[in-house]
Amino acid sequence: MRGELDAELVLSQSLPGGRATLEGVLPGLAEEALARSLGKGVVGRMGPWNLEGDRLTLTLTAENGRAHQALLALTRRLKVELGRTAKVGVRTVRALRYRLTFDVPKAPTAPVSLPIPHQLRFGDGQATLELEGLDEEALRDNWSDRAVTLVEDKVLRQHYQGKEQYWKLLSQSPARNLTVTEDPTEAMLRRNWLRNGPTKGKWFLGPLPAHLLRTMERIAIDEVLRPLGFEEVVQPHHDSFDILLKTGHLEGVPGEFYYVAEPKSRDPAVWERFTDLVKITRKVPEAELANLVSGPVAVSCYAQCPTTYWWLSGRTIAQEMLPLKVFDRAAISNRYESGGRHGLERVDEFHRIEPVYLGTPEQLLELREQLLARYAHVFNDILELEWRTAWVTPFYMQQSGAIGVEDETQRIKGTIDFEAYLPYRGTREASEWLEFQNLSIVGDKYPKAFTIKTQKGELWSGCTGIGLERWLIAFLAQRGLDPTAWPAGFRKYAGELPREIRFL
Ligand code: SER
Ligand code: ZN
Repeated sequence: MRGELDAELVLSQSLPGGRATLEGVLPGLAEEALARSLGKGVVGRMGPWNLEGDRLTLTLTAENGRAHQALLALTRRLKVELGRTAKVGVRTVRALRYRLTFDVPKAPTAPVSLPIPHQLRFGDGQATLELEGLDEEALRDNWSDRAVTLVEDKVLRQHYQGKEQYWKLLSQSPARNLTVTEDPTEAMLRRNWLRNGPTKGKWFLGPLPAHLLRTMERIAIDEVLRPLGFEEVVQPHHDSFDILLKTGHLEGVPGEFYYVAEPKSRDPAVWERFTDLVKITRKVPEAELANLVSGPVAVSCYAQCPTTYWWLSGRTIAQEMLPLKVFDRAAISNRYESGGRHGLERVDEFHRIEPVYLGTPEQLLELREQLLARYAHVFNDILELEWRTAWVTPFYMQQSGAIGVEDETQRIKGTIDFEAYLPYRGTREASEWLEFQNLSIVGDKYPKAFTIKTQKGELWSGCTGIGLERWLIAFLAQRGLDPTAWPAGFRKYAGELPREIRFL
């Protein structure tokens, strides 16, 4: 990458002696700053410069490095030098223009936009990005690096668009003789087990399906988590923006959150006009309300693992605690599904147990085998499902908007999806199976992002979301609503069932 920077430094006052004062020192300082900040083998130089009153303008070029780092280094040196010799400070430094030229292996197929002032041109396998008016904070914060990455990413994404998601079969249970073909949500609605919720994409579960959902939860805890030594935590329900910045969710799926707003005040006097309007109109005074609540301050839980990582952030986990194995079932996941909603299996609000584990790579690989074995026991022997597993694009890449597939051949890091056949959707071959569970080893992404350490060696993490509605739908879609047709193992766990409520 080549960088050319037109910079402007504003001094605290005009320099006594003017240009002549600088002539002796500036080239030397620039040479030193370029050499020190650009690293070995990088060619950099200072071009023409000019001083007018308190305004110093100059150009810096780095053939294959980060010219803005050289500018910051030069500014530091200039501050010291001018402070010492002339009692003059440097008030501001900014890049009037920062021209970055870099290779793009594939030409863009559509315009590429950026949200900061710039010009962008493509040609001859290269992109030239000219950023305008970067202040000191933007320079320090390396906006220019991120803008280049974003351009590269956007071009790459144009070529990935419409490509199929990665999916590779890993294991498959034997086919089962399934006689049920009804959509279980429809069946439950017909029998008044369920009611479509009072707000979008949510369901009210009556006593019977609630009991079945909790039965799934007990099976997961008693048959998978407790035997493997997982311990329960209870986490808050709101995810802070700070957490989602670290995980990448904020840039990956901002359109899938339910955002949380706070009242600006809890003083009844502030709300008086609002409450009076409610009393008179019996309607929601929406415009009034909008003025009385804040903008979004957090999001309703999207996944539980981010907040679990937050809990451990900045901590060093004692070696003997590894692998650390915890699970949360307190936070309820909310996702804005828009067009994708269907039945109880694709909803805006769902109940999930999310186990999270941290340990050495070897420990996590071993734990994955143990989890796979316990899950297989549940799905084969208790729920008697027809199911399969597949390697898929890792959830943490999907949800952070990353492109491509990680380790698709090595299969150390990555996500395994568990899928169940839903007879109501059609044949085994042609229909889409339901992802009812996943299991991931994520590597060091989250320990790094949240600064979680152990005493020595590498610390990896992973998670395995257990979607309770999904377990329930997979089971009912294959086995139906008639308890006498359910496998004995499940009937034993379910125990006595609540009565079916009759409505007249
Ligand atoms: N965090 C995972 C997901 O969102 C669940 O384990 O899919
Ligand atoms: Zn997770």
